[in-house]
Formats: sequence, structure tokens, C-alpha cells
Amino acid sequence: MYKETTPWEANYDVNEMPAYTLPDVLTCQDGTVVKTVEDWEKKRRPELFQMFKDVMYGERLPLPDKVRYEILSEKKDDLNNLALRREVRLHFEMNNGKSHFADVLLYIPNGVEKAPVFTGLTFMGNQVASADKSLRVTGLSFDKSEEYRIKSETEMRGFQVRRFPLEEIMKRGYALAFASYHDIFPDREDGWSDSVYRLFFDEKELAEKRPSGYSSIGAWAWGLSRILDYLETVPQIDAEKAAVYGHSRLGKSSLWAGVCDERFKLTCVNDSGCGGAALSRRLFGETLYSMYAQHTIGRWWFTDNMDAEKALHPENLPLDQHELVALIAPRGVSIHSASEDRWADPEGEYLSGFHAGRVSKLYGNNDILTGGKKPATNVSEGGKHISYFEREGGHDILLADWNHYMDMADQLFK
Ligand code: GCU
Repeated sequence: MYKETTPWEANYDVNEMPAYTLPDVLTCQDGTVVKTVEDWEKKRRPELFQMFKDVMYGERLPLPDKVRYEILSEKKDDLNNLALRREVRLHFEMNNGKSHFADVLLYIPNGVEKAPVFTGLTFMGNQVASADKSLRVTGLSFDKSEEYRIKSETEMRGFQVRRFPLEEIMKRGYALAFASYHDIFPDREDGWSDSVYRLFFDEKELAEKRPSGYSSIGAWAWGLSRILDYLETVPQIDAEKAAVYGHSRLGKSSLWAGVCDERFKLTCVNDSGCGGAALSRRLFGETLYSMYAQHTIGRWWFTDNMDAEKALHPENLPLDQHELVALIAPRGVSIHSASEDRWADPEGEYLSGFHAGRVSKLYGNNDILTGGKKPATNVSEGGKHISYFEREGGHDILLADWNHYMDMADQLFK
């Protein structure tokens, strides 16, 4: 049974999981039952959306007063002439003189008239995606030490190319755009005053105290939307066909971005685990309590309305993560796990997608999950409205994941 111990030991035994009852996605807080799309859109969706803001991810940030796009570099024949590569700085500017920027790396497939696009964020800096030394080093606001800068310039170049199968993505006709998540919110407890929050709050106050009711996941999701704002201005891109993707904590963020921004027609959620696609009530692998109270990352990833007591008792929360996935309907969502990534609870990730299907069905969407039990490893279930895929291997985002996401995007966009 679930124990409150320090350090908390993760449970990996299904027989040790508590019995749980999920909140009914189609029953409103006042007990009325959703029967139509109109009931869903007018009543249940707004109330659930507000609950996820209150309990988990915080309020949305507004738009900056002004945005300016500065092209820093452009290469027309990158990746053996497969792509146009552009580095562009998004300047967020306020009328009171405050500003903040994020550097986007964009690849557009050559020879495609209007390319659909995948939008994401990187761990560390953009230079992890390619060993090309002409790329700018980004994400340095995470750690401002000289040592980190040198490491970013050297060891981090091409450090995660396996996560960016650039040529394969270009060959399938998709554009790809991403920025370092540290440019939006440096991933540390005191990241607030170096983050986009400084546009909207007093920097000195942010350095002393986080703003109540906000989160870093909220900022990362906001950043994904700002990248899409830019993509809407690029003539070679079809921003009506935009997907958002993310791995791990950035999978949690892509899920929230997909919920908040209806311009994302496909949300790709990879190994997002607890606080992402995995059901909180299952208490298998990572839990809200371990994330929030023990290794403490939850304290800035989530709103401060979450606390140790609430995190310890997910059965008392008014929501669970299947309802978050449901908020994406009728747009598409693809949930991925990895067979060895038990910390993220693959079965719990599958079940969220499965239970979210009732909302997708209200819209007449039938390409959803119907099995009720996680399919075998490397076998895709569902389709363009809701799909699930468990890749063989560990916690990562690899070509097999990309191929499945692109298959789902093909179904939606082509
Ligand atoms: C940790 C954390 C997860 C998170 C992951 C990541 O494992 O416990 O919740 O998804 O880091 O983002 O890499």
C-alpha cells in the first residue's frame, strides 16, 4: 500500500496499488451529466480547464505588449540540401521597457510549398540537436557560470541528436521549430526572476518570492504558443497544421500547451508520466507526492496551490489526468510511453487516453483508443483523434517515436 515514507519508495507492483475511482469526465461539479458537445463546451470543459489551472498548472500568462522577430542566421541548403535552417530571436517587449528573448531554431523542408510543423522545446540548449558548430549556443540562463557556458559550447553540441532525427523529419515533409526551455523559464526553483514572468511581475519581488498561482509548466506551454505565433508569419509553413510535442517534463508541458492553445491540431506527449498523461490515482512509479515533496521539482513545475498534503492524497483531488487529455478534443492527441520507463507508468498513460475517448466520441470521433488495456510494446493503437504507442526501450524520444507521431500527423494533415 502507499506509504508516506522519506525517502518515498516507488511502487511497481500492481497488487500494491490502491483501489481508485476516477472522476467522471462527463459529470459536472453540480452533478449534471454532459450529453452534447454544447454541454461540454459551455459548461464542463470551462470548469475542468479552470480546475486544472487552480490545482495543477496555474493561470495563463498574457501576451507581451509587443513582439519582434529578428533573424539571426539563415542557411538555405542545410542537412545536405534537405532544409532551410533559420535561427530567429523572439523579442518579447513591454511598453514599460522590460524585455525578454528566446532563440528559436527552425528547419523547413526544401521543396515543400507549405509544410506542416512540429513545435517543441529542448532540454539544455538548441545546440544539443546538431553537432554543427555554426549553431548558436542557447539556454545559458539556466546556469550563468563560465564552466556551464564552456560545457554548452563543447560537450553539449550534438549531445542529443538521437532525439532530433532532422533528416527523416525533413524527408517526410515536416518543418520543426524549437527553443531551449531555459530561455522561457530556467528549470530551477529560483528561475522565476530569469524567466518570462519578469515581463509581467516585479523582478526584485520575483527573486524573493514566486508569484502565487503560476508555474514553470505554465511558462513553457506559453513559450510553445509564442513559437507558434512566429510560425504563423512564415510563408513556407502551414500553421493551420501545427503539432506540439514534448518529452518528459516537456511532455507534461506539451500536454498543457495542447489544452490551452487550440491552434495546435495535434498534441504529442512523450513519456510525460506523473503530472502529464499518467493517472495520478494509480500511485504506480512516480507520484505527485514524490515529485512535489521529495525531489521537490514539483514545487516550481506546478502552481503553489498544490502542496504536500494535496499531493499525498490524489484521491481527494477533484480531477485526474484523463480529464486533461479530454480537454484536447476534438483535436488529436498521441500518447507515447517507453517499455522500460516504469517510473512514468505506461499503463497509467494509456488509461488517460482511453478514458478521454468519451469526450472525443461526443464529437463523433472514432479513431480513438478502445482496447481498455495497454497494447503490446511497439504496437500502435487508435488513430488520428487519440492514439497510443509504447516504444521498446528506455526514457527517451527516438526515431520510432517520431515515426509514429508523423504517421498520426499524416492522418490528420495529409
Ligand atoms: C524526473 C521526474 C519526471 C520528469 C523527468 C524529466 O524523472 O521525476 O517527472 O518527467 O524527470 O523531465 O526528465
